[in-house]
Amino acid sequence: MLTLAVLISGGGSNLRALLEETRHPDFPARVVVVGADRDAQGLFHAEDFDIPSFAVPYSSYETREQWGEALIEQLARWNADVVVLSGLMRLLPRNVLDRFAPHIINTHPAYLPEFPGAHAVRDALAAGATETGASVIVVDGGVDSGPVLRRERVAIPAGATEAELHDAIKLVERRLLSEVLVDIATEKIRLEEYRA
Ligand code: GRF
Repeated sequence: MLTLAVLISGGGSNLRALLEETRHPDFPARVVVVGADRDAQGLFHAEDFDIPSFAVPYSSYETREQWGEALIEQLARWNADVVVLSGLMRLLPRNVLDRFAPHIINTHPAYLPEFPGAHAVRDALAAGATETGASVIVVDGGVDSGPVLRRERVAIPAGATEAELHDAIKLVERRLLSEVLVDIATEKIRLEEYRA
């Protein structure tokens, strides 16, 4: 059974979807802890599923590295097989990558390498694109620059708002994440192969 630590920053709708997925007895992964870089709304989902959670508020630390040390300390307690960034709006510092990469994956609401960064959905709309996508990548030291494990195109309906488009993309993100986790659990994907 693949064990997962999920990190969030916001509402955690993707986390919720993953928690519901892990309820299926044949899904080969389970969430052992949920962490956040702030007092994120999404931590309530962990509570609903009786899963331990922690918050390491970024604002409580002098530097990104010190925040990273506190995050490492929390994650190390659970020793999950994979750290899943699902709505973590924070770049991980070098010390966290050194400790857990390449066993860190991230979902992104664009067809990477198109539209990296924190405003992917808004950027796709601003670019007048007729399609965008969703991606699951291995986290490296860059901004959404790691190797793509899975990605899929999402059409942009005419007149779609940012929120409508993001909701449509998230549905694909969630399915791609589940598919990637199955591939990791069945060793179709070996994250060790992505060790830099
Ligand atoms: C997702 O689209 C994720 O890829 C991006 O932020 C969004 C998080 O949504 N980084 P939620 O918090 O899971 O609802």
